[in-house]
Amino acid sequence: MLTKSPKGWQIPERHATPEEVFLDRRKLLQGMGFLGMSALAQQAFGAIAPDLYPAKRDAKYTLDRPLTAEPVATGYNNFYEFTLDKRRVKDMVGPFEIEPWKVKVHGLINNPKTYDIDDLVRAFPLEERLYRFRCVETWAMAVPWTGFQISHLIQAADPKPEAKYIRMVSVDRPEQMPGIRSQPHYPWPYFEALEIKEAMNELALFVTGIYGKPLPKQNGAPIRLITPWKYGLKSIKSIVEIEFTEKRPPTLWNKVGPTEYGWYSNVNPKKPHPRWSQATDRLIPTGEERPTLLYNGYEEYVAGLYNGKEY
Ligand code: MTE
Repeated sequence: MLTKSPKGWQIPERHATPEEVFLDRRKLLQGMGFLGMSALAQQAFGAIAPDLYPAKRDAKYTLDRPLTAEPVATGYNNFYEFTLDKRRVKDMVGPFEIEPWKVKVHGLINNPKTYDIDDLVRAFPLEERLYRFRCVETWAMAVPWTGFQISHLIQAADPKPEAKYIRMVSVDRPEQMPGIRSQPHYPWPYFEALEIKEAMNELALFVTGIYGKPLPKQNGAPIRLITPWKYGLKSIKSIVEIEFTEKRPPTLWNKVGPTEYGWYSNVNPKKPHPRWSQATDRLIPTGEERPTLLYNGYEEYVAGLYNGKEY
């Protein structure tokens, strides 16, 4: 149903300042010496295991579009625990502490373990991959992520036969994340889930770095999910818990807006969002439009997961 005033749970990006205007303004300010952007960006970057970056790039994963410039991908973020204003997230993450950090892996597995992040980033082979990224709001980019295949962690966890899903939970730190305090209508902390067979797919990564460096806080440091065939809302940031379950776990966006955000949220140009078409990608920052590809162009890798059905 179309409403004039968006509800709290509706991702509100679509009529924001055009990226070009924002970037021009920034260039102008930089030229005038008002913005030490690189210094700011440095502050926002995480510092977990910097010796591991840049990781070796896996040349198998190629792009059909230009790589998005680093200041764009690290300066235009959805991270509602801070703010709904994509351009301000990077300026609000300063007080967010990513060290020490633990990730609890538990549930229906034979090897439950709580990892210190420094051990987790070294536990499985890190590699760099160039992936397309498509937000449910239609904006899209192409990013060099560094991470490890979730399949490695699943193998180490050794799921019991009845385990079918993994549930992931973001950190819940209202004192460091002002958006949690100012938006109590969301069911914090952010939660997401995948079928284990989806998470076993070679494309599914736990990401700890970007542009050859540790992940900046605004992009979900110290560890976040990337599933490039799904809308970006699935790619939960700043994960602290991974649970293996038999029953399908709920996911945040599907719970708050089931008619708008499917549980699978696979990129599908033929399945319009109730309030906008999904037929076109809008590349940031240029605004160039391209036809949206089924599974974001990763059909050959993932179509088999869905037995010809579209979710
Ligand atoms: N994870 C958490 N914890 N909180 C969020 O608000 N936003 C999601 C996803 N992961 C979000 C999150 C959405 S809607 C998108 S499009 C991507 O993060 C954005 O990732 P990026 O900022 O690295 O581009």
